[in-house]
Amino acid sequence: MEKLNGKKKLKVAVFISGRGSNLKSLINFSKNKNSGIKIALVISDNKYAKGIYLAKKNKIKFLFINYKFKNAAENKILINLKKNYIDFICLAGFMKILTKKIIINYKNKILNVHPSLLPKYKGLNTHRRVIKNKEKFTGCTIHLVNTKLDSGKIILQKKIKIFKKDNEKSLSKRVLKIENLIYPKAVKKFINSIL
Ligand code: GRF
Repeated sequence: MEKLNGKKKLKVAVFISGRGSNLKSLINFSKNKNSGIKIALVISDNKYAKGIYLAKKNKIKFLFINYKFKNAAENKILINLKKNYIDFICLAGFMKILTKKIIINYKNKILNVHPSLLPKYKGLNTHRRVIKNKEKFTGCTIHLVNTKLDSGKIILQKKIKIFKKDNEKSLSKRVLKIENLIYPKAVKKFINSIL
């Protein structure tokens, strides 16, 4: 926890692998006086992730983690989380699965954004499967991370209607918009629940 302008701010690490639209929405949120967070570290397993530029632009400490050796990668992550006094973690399109080592160290302190209405459609290719199954609704979920894939406690969800004309691309675009919208709200709700 850090005091900024007389207010206490929890230190957050955001993990990304690509585009970084959720990172962007969290950065924007963190700039609000009353957000209660400071993004102190961005971690990426992909050297070429677009999100890295957002970290640079906003002068946020950035770390590339080479995942060739998972054990070493996670050790390096843990060292850096501790070194930067990280209070909690937001996974934002991070495509690696964290092992127990990190999850236990940050028990109930890791949030993830998933593009479906969990517990439905865990895992990858959610939009493709949702369309194939002719679902009427889909959405996104912000949840806590536990050792089972996409199975931790749900913090916030938002549902949208699937239109007849929707395809995988249009749906992923519309769902991404609501991901960006609710991630900061879920962070706020999470903070209120732990303080
Ligand atoms: C999002 O669709 C998220 O649900 C999924 O990966 C995507 C990340 O997008 N896990 P971005 O990098 O935040 O733009």
